[in-house]
Parts: sequence; C-alpha cells; structure tokens
Amino acid sequence: MNLRAKLIAIQMATAGLILVGCVAFMLVNNLWLAKDYIGSQMRSTAKLIGENSVSSLDFMDPASAEKVLESLSAEPDVVNAVLYDSRGNIFAKYTRPGFGEWSSLCPEAEATVYTGSFIQTSMRIKRGPETIGTVLIRSGMERYRKAAYLNLVIVLSTLGIGLLLAFLLSAFMQKTISGPVLKLVEATEQITQTGDYSYRVERQGPAEIDLLCGNFNEMIGRIESRDSSLRDYQNNLEKKVQVATRDLASANRELEEKAEALEAANRDLADALEGLKEIDRLKSEFLATMSHELRTPLNSIIGFTGILHQGMAGPINPVQAKQLGIVYQSAKHLLSLINDLLDLSRIEAGRVVLDIRPFVFQTVVGEALEVLRPLAEPKGVQIRSEMPSSPIPMVGDSKRCYQVLLNLVNNSIKFTDKGEVVIRVVVQGDRLRVEVRDTGIGIKKEQLGLLFEAFRQLDGSARRVYEGTGLGLHLCRKILSLMRGEIGVESQYGKGSCFWFTLPLELTPGEVP
Ligand SMILES: Nc1ncnc2c1ncn2[C@@H]1O[C@H](COP(=O)(O)OP(=O)(O)OP(=O)(O)O)[C@@H](O)[C@H]1O
Ligand SMILES: [Mg+2]
Repeated sequence: MNLRAKLIAIQMATAGLILVGCVAFMLVNNLWLAKDYIGSQMRSTAKLIGENSVSSLDFMDPASAEKVLESLSAEPDVVNAVLYDSRGNIFAKYTRPGFGEWSSLCPEAEATVYTGSFIQTSMRIKRGPETIGTVLIRSGMERYRKAAYLNLVIVLSTLGIGLLLAFLLSAFMQKTISGPVLKLVEATEQITQTGDYSYRVERQGPAEIDLLCGNFNEMIGRIESRDSSLRDYQNNLEKKVQVATRDLASANRELEEKAEALEAANRDLADALEGLKEIDRLKSEFLATMSHELRTPLNSIIGFTGILHQGMAGPINPVQAKQLGIVYQSAKHLLSLINDLLDLSRIEAGRVVLDIRPFVFQTVVGEALEVLRPLAEPKGVQIRSEMPSSPIPMVGDSKRCYQVLLNLVNNSIKFTDKGEVVIRVVVQGDRLRVEVRDTGIGIKKEQLGLLFEAFRQLDGSARRVYEGTGLGLHLCRKILSLMRGEIGVESQYGKGSCFWFTLPLELTPGEVP
C-alpha cells in the first residue's frame, strides 16, 4: 500500500468513525422523537374523545359514547378504544373492523405505555375537578415503523453522502502532502538508477514538505559536487598510476640490464678467481719446490762454513774468522726464512699433516725458554713463565705448538729493550690459553689489524732496526687455525704488548687435516 492510499485510508477511517457515530446518534434521537410525537398525538386524541364523551357519561348514554368512539376509525393506527365510567366499569368500546375484541381493566393512572407492537394511552375524563370516567386507546406501531424506516433511509443516505464527500475531500487534500513526498521518492529512485546527481525536485506542499524538498536538493547538490571532485581525483590518480607504472617498468628494465651486467661481471670474476686459484696453486708449488731446492745447497754452505770457521780445515786468521762468522749467521737466517716460506706454502697448498699425540704443555714452554733465554739475557731482559704446578696433559701437535710459542716469545724479546717477557699459561674449560706479555715498544691501535698479514712489518724505521721478514705471525695464525686454535693481541703503544692464543686441550685426528 503506497503513501497515498495509506493517507486516504487513515482519513476515511477517521471520517467514517465520526460519521457513523453521528448518524447512530441521529437515528436513536429521531426514533425517540418519533415515539414521543406518536405518544403526544395519542394523548391529544384521547383528550378529544374524553371531552366528547362527557355528556354521554353524564346522561349514562353508552350508544352516543360508542358513536364518539367510532370517530376513531379516521385514525388508521387506532385498533381499540375503551371508555370506563367513574367506577372503572367498561362504559363503551370500539374495535377497528378486522381486529379482535380487546378489553382491559381500567388503568389506575394516566399513562402512555409501549407494549411490544402496540402503544396504549389512558386519560381521565373530568368535569371540573371531578373524574367522571377514563378513556383507554390502543394503537398499532405501523406509523412508528414507517417513520423509523424513513429515518433509517435518510440516515444511511446521509452516511453514504458523508463518506463519499470525505473520500473526495481526502483524495484532494492528500495530494498536497503525498504528491510532493511521492515526487521525492521518484527522484531518489531516478538518481539511484541513473547516478545523475544533477536532478532536483520542485519545491511544493506544506511548509515541512517544502523544507524537506529544499534540504533534499541541497544534499544532492553537495553529493554532486563531491562526486565530481572524486571523479577528478580518480582521473588524476589513474594518470599518476600510469606514470608510476611506466617509471617502474623502465626502472625494472634498467634493473634487469644491471642484473645481467652484474651476472656477466660475476661470471668474469668467477673465471678470474679460478685463474687466481690456479696461479696461487702454481705459486705454492713453485715455492715448495724452490725452497726445497734452495735448502739443500744452503745446508752444505752452513755445514762447510762451520767447518772452516772452527778451523777444522786449517788455521784461519781473526779477520777471516769474523767474515766466516757473518757468512755463517746470514746463511742460517736465510735457511730459517726459507723454512718459513716452505711451511707457509705447504699450509696454503693443504699439504700439512699434523702429528697428533699426547704431551705435557709445560715441556713445550720449558724447551722454548731454554732456547730463547740466551737471546733475552744479554739484552738485560728477564724471561719467566707462570704456569699451574700440576702438569697440563694435552693431545695435539706439540712441534707446531712449540713453533707458535717460539715465534711469539722471539718477537717479544726482539721488540723489548728492558723489562721482562712473561709466558702465562691457564686452562679454561676444555681449552688452553697462553699469553706472551712483554714490556717492549708496543703497537699502535690502528696497526693491530695489520699484524697477521704476510710479510707485514709495522713501520719502515722498525724494519731497519729489527730484523725479520714479517712472516712469523701470519704463519702462527695459519698453524693455529689448522689446530682449531685462535690468536689475538692487546697492546699499548710504548708500554708493551700481550699476544695470546687458545687451543683445545684435546685434538681428535678426525677434525684436523
Ligand atoms: N711483541 C711485539 N711488540 C711489538 N711489535 C711486535 C711484536 N710482535 C710483532 N710485532 C710487530 O709485528 C710485525 C710482524 O711480526 P712477525 O713476527 O710477523 O714478523 P717479524 O718478527 O718482523 O719477522 P719474522 O718473524 O718473519 O722473522 C713485526 O715486524 C713488528 O712490527
Ligand atoms: Mg717474528
């Protein structure tokens, strides 16, 4: 049911209820009036009959009384009439032809009574103050019925006309309310279907509906402007996305090209690395062969120079002895250098095999002290060790441990002019930690990272003062890494250094070369 039909229905229901109420009231009222009217007419008739019957009663002439009563035949509704004398006895009677005889006792008082389908009216007949008789008239309800019927017809017609008028009026009036509202609904439907926010509704109807239309138009106007700015924004966004996508695609292409170039460079690098590895291998091989070839003649030089120096091949003068001594020392230095090189190339070529067996670490320290003490003492440098009193049993390559320790202590003695060199040994869990501390020249902080590179000696002046090739620490690190060890240094420039290394107490042959 749409708004229009609903409004009409509400108005019709209201009007109908009021009309039915009014009409019902009218009907009841009219019937009551009709009854009252009939009653009063009957009383007038009874009064007239009474007045005309006075002389009949005075002269006790029932025949003339009956004649008077017969005048009632002019009243179509009167069915019976009875005249009583002053004692209440029936004096004369009238019965309309076609109706049955009827008699009743004399009524005790004047009254108009409705008894089902009849109306009875009784009235006293008086002469002055004296009551000389009573007249009783009985009438049918035909007139009343006709009046009631007519009344009903009029009332129902009034109701019908009233309802028709109410319908026409409400149909006309609802147009002013539902018309604009329905147009508003139509507008929303059209906007929803077409998405066209330029549509506006005509302002009309009562003040509230007019305001509603105005507000609706304003709201749609705002939506329209927002919609258009949203569309603009969307268009801009699309353009921006297109530009960004293009940029991204070109960046992607560049990236792909770079990735390809990088791949090619990587391939070149891998090839170069392969070449370098091969060169490195050849270098190590060459060094190993050459060192071996150099050692043989060098050993015979050392041997024979020794024989000559000791005068075993004949007497030599002091100058010759001094010069032979220099040759002997130089040859020994050269041999140690070649030995180091040979070692290094063997390690780098992966040709070193560790000799793993049980030993006591204190023995290694004892041997190193024995060999190096003659170097320290002439310089006035004290050399000592701090070790646990109980033996430290180890499983590993004792010769390589000795080599590392010898290198570190040798350095400490070399770079210390006064003070002391201390070898400190501690066991930490399943590892051994050895520290070689000196009171020597120390190392600058920025140079600490360079120490373990091959052929690295810290500064030019030092190289001139202290002999060596810069291989010792590099070799130490290589050997320790073979034995799952670590090496490091802490130092204060001008005050001294502490080189340390750690080793597992037990090396299992499976985990090393
Ligand atoms: N205890 C130390 N105190 C101060 N400087 C040191 C100490 N130990 C090493 N260095 C510095 O580290 C450099 C490298 O030492 P490394 O043992 O590798 O070579 P080297 O002793 O000069 O020569 P090589 O050991 O081959 O005979 C040394 O030249 C020195 O400058
Ligand atoms: Mg050294």
